[in-house]
Amino acid sequence: MEQKKDYRLYLSQTAKQMILVHDPNLLSKLVLRTVTRNLGVKHSGLFLYNKNKKEYVITVSSGKKGLKIPVGFTKITNNNPIIQFFLNKDVKENKEYLLVSDIKSLKEKYKDNEPIYNLLTGLEDETSMYKAQLIVPGFFRKELMVVFFIGNKTDGSFFNKEDLEFLTILSSDVVMAIQNAKLFDDIKKQLDINKQLLLNTVETLATAIDIKNSYTHGHTERVMKYSITLLKYIPQEKIKEYEDFENMLRISALLHDIGKIGIPESILNKSGKLLPEEIKLVEKHPTLGAEILEPIKEFKDISLGVKYHHERYDGTGYPCGLSGENIPLIATIISVADAYDAMTSDRPYRKGLDRKDAIKEIVANKNRQFSPLVVDAFVEAFDNNEL
Ligand SMILES: [Fe+2]
Repeated sequence: MEQKKDYRLYLSQTAKQMILVHDPNLLSKLVLRTVTRNLGVKHSGLFLYNKNKKEYVITVSSGKKGLKIPVGFTKITNNNPIIQFFLNKDVKENKEYLLVSDIKSLKEKYKDNEPIYNLLTGLEDETSMYKAQLIVPGFFRKELMVVFFIGNKTDGSFFNKEDLEFLTILSSDVVMAIQNAKLFDDIKKQLDINKQLLLNTVETLATAIDIKNSYTHGHTERVMKYSITLLKYIPQEKIKEYEDFENMLRISALLHDIGKIGIPESILNKSGKLLPEEIKLVEKHPTLGAEILEPIKEFKDISLGVKYHHERYDGTGYPCGLSGENIPLIATIISVADAYDAMTSDRPYRKGLDRKDAIKEIVANKNRQFSPLVVDAFVEAFDNNEL
């Protein structure tokens, strides 16, 4: 009874670990260690199915004595008797496990059926090579995904009902964990493709905005790069999930002026002073941009950067007059990056500021136009020659 209780504990612990391991090789080692330790066997191993290569790859956990697998026997194919025993429909035996000591009586039973008899003879040879006493398969639907082989118990005893129960449950858990790992891998690959696709689309869109603003060529790309640089110097604790935030910031910075699509080029490219009504129109671009992005619900946080990148720390910015910490961090970063690029690039009517003068201007506007957190990050990045 005591033993049974232990198994349950080990099983639940292993199952928990298994879900976290997404690498099948690591998973195999972890499971075999559990088997060798908890069953008290000399060694254990498993064959893991590689669907692409249509072969089974062996992983072994040697106990103290160790099991040497001969070179060339670390992979087996579908034709191997160990695999065939569980896949062959003519072998009508219990297929939850196979005790090697039962093969003899099976041979007796199938002595008139030559193919099966030969298969069982092959099975005897194979199991003796792997020094296996017990074989436990693990199926996913009709696919044989994993085959455990277990050596002798160190204390010389036989496998009992609990051992067999433990192993059959473990093998089905392993199958689930492997399926889980595969699914996880597929999803990750798909996500990476989608991410790249999205970024390419956003970059194309950003270029379209830049072209409309004839004098700010390359502006959005630079604002994106400055924003990402600034982010590296923002204290980690200010950002919940760094990787997500970085991606959002990248997209938001590229799209920060997307609202300018709705503003006449004659105003955007006007070299003289803007009339008050023209200024009003230009100042609509953050709201327009946020409206453009609104239908994309995944862009909710990204649009915060678009909507509030012209807010000022002291509350005198537009479109909402937000101040201090009420301005989303993503927008405060873009705001500094945007201003720095505007200051340092040439315009038809004026030459761009020197980098050193630009930083002075940014520092002078700490707590006024810009968030102190971002200005500090800016100074640090600048001192490190990253801007
Ligand atoms: Fe803007």
